[in-house]
Amino acid sequence: MGPEVHSAMVAIHNVLRWVVVLAALAAIIGSWHGVFTRREWTGGDRLRTVAYVASMHVQLLLGIILYANSPIVRVAFDDPGAAMGERGIRFFFVEHIFLMIIAVVVVQLGSILAKKADEPFRKHRRAAICFTLGLVLVFAGTPWFRPLFPGL
Ligand code: HEM
Repeated sequence: MGPEVHSAMVAIHNVLRWVVVLAALAAIIGSWHGVFTRREWTGGDRLRTVAYVASMHVQLLLGIILYANSPIVRVAFDDPGAAMGERGIRFFFVEHIFLMIIAVVVVQLGSILAKKADEPFRKHRRAAICFTLGLVLVFAGTPWFRPLFPGL
């Protein structure tokens, strides 16, 4: 993959992070609202859940492709010992991928556990806890030292 294609994919990955954040907030607010009001689990809840899970999966897929082509990651594999001592390189070499994969697993788990619960309150509670933890992990793993939007 050429450097232009890689840069374009980084830009897409950058913008889609905000789609993840918006989908996460919608699912988190909806599920906590469900917990506190003890309302039914609706088609809207399922839709918000699917949107959050899907946005995370798209970032995961893009991220794996970025990881395989990133010049930063390549430098790290050339000399892993030195890479671990450099904050900016170690971040993309291990921290970002590690935290984001855990985040995807936690959000996916929330979706599965909500589906399996036999009562609306439990569905909302399982979703609320896993979805909130998932967003905390995404925030912890986001490279805030990089542009908030491509080119900014
Ligand atoms: C699932 C949620 C994820 C979010 C919200 C996210 C977010 C971001 C953001 C905001 C950037 C900075 C983009 C820029 O500099 O313009 C970035 C870069 C990067 N991400 Fe992710 N990411 C996610 C998952 C992943 C995963 C799972 C991987 C690896 C498998 C990954 C690999 C990378 C790499 C390698 C870069 C740096 C690419 C480069 O500059 O060469 N990301 N990510």
